[in-house]
Amino acid sequence: MNTEKRVKLMERVYEMVNLSTIPVILAKVTAVAEDQESSRDELVKVLEHDQTLAAKVIELSNAAFYGHSRKIQTLNEAVALLGFEAVKGLAISSTIFSEISKVAGSKLVIFWRHSFEVARTAMTLARMTGETRPEKIFLAGLLHDIGRPILYQFFGDDYIATSEVSKNIVSDEEEFYGASHADVGSWFADKCCFPEDLVMAIRLHHIPESHLLDTNFYLPLVYLADYIVSDDGTGAAIDHIHSPEHDKLLSVLNLNDESLEALKEKIADTQTQAQNYY
Ligand SMILES: [Fe+2]
Ligand SMILES: [Fe+2]
Repeated sequence: MNTEKRVKLMERVYEMVNLSTIPVILAKVTAVAEDQESSRDELVKVLEHDQTLAAKVIELSNAAFYGHSRKIQTLNEAVALLGFEAVKGLAISSTIFSEISKVAGSKLVIFWRHSFEVARTAMTLARMTGETRPEKIFLAGLLHDIGRPILYQFFGDDYIATSEVSKNIVSDEEEFYGASHADVGSWFADKCCFPEDLVMAIRLHHIPESHLLDTNFYLPLVYLADYIVSDDGTGAAIDHIHSPEHDKLLSVLNLNDESLEALKEKIADTQTQAQNYY
C-alpha cells in the first residue's frame, strides 16, 4: 500500500469536510450533532434556513417511509418519525450529493441511485427482522458507499472507468488512489461525527464477516441489502460483494435465501424512482 498517497487522500477528505466544498449547512448540522445539549428543534431550525435542503429532506423522508399511508409534510414530522440521526444523515448526504453534483455532473446519479436503493432495502430488511430502529439502518445504507462519489469528485471519469472494469474494486482503488471507497467513506463519516459503529460499518462493508463475532449493529443488514441490490445491477456503482460467510450472516438475522427472494418481490412492488430525487 502506498502510504504517502493514502495520507494525502485522507487529508483531502478532511479538507473537504472542513473547508471548501461542503457548504455552510454541513458545518451547522455537524455542530448540532456535536453539541450534546442541542435539541431536535435546533436541527430543524438549521435546516429551515435552507429551503431547498428542507424540501429535499422532507421528500427523502417520505421516500424512506414509502409504503406508509401517512405523508410527512414538515421537518418536525420527519424528525419525529425518522429520528434525529436519520434526518441529520439525510441532510448531510443530500448536501454532499448536491455539492458534488455541481462539480461532477450527471454521472453522480448512478451513485445516488445505488445508495438510495441499498438504504431502502436495508430498512425493509430491518423491519422484517424486527429491528426497532430501522431508520438507523436506512442511514447506514445511504452512507455505505459515500466514499464513491467523493472519489469521483477527486478523480473524475478515471474513477468511473476504474469502477466499471474492476474485478476487485477495493484493491484497485487502494492501488490507484491510495485507499478504497470504504476507507474514504469512513474518514468522511468520522469527520462528520457519525457514531463509531456506523463509521466501522462503512469501513468494513466489503468484509462484513470481519465483525461476525462482535456483531456490528449495521454490518449484516447493509451487506445483505448491498448484495440484493447488486444482484440484478451492473455498472460503476455496484459493489458485487459475496461474503464467504454469507450463510452465517443470514443466520445472524434469522433469514434464509427464500426470505431474501420474498423481500426482492416486495421491493419490486414498491419501486419508487430513486433517480427522481436527484
Ligand atoms: Fe462499497
Ligand atoms: Fe454498495
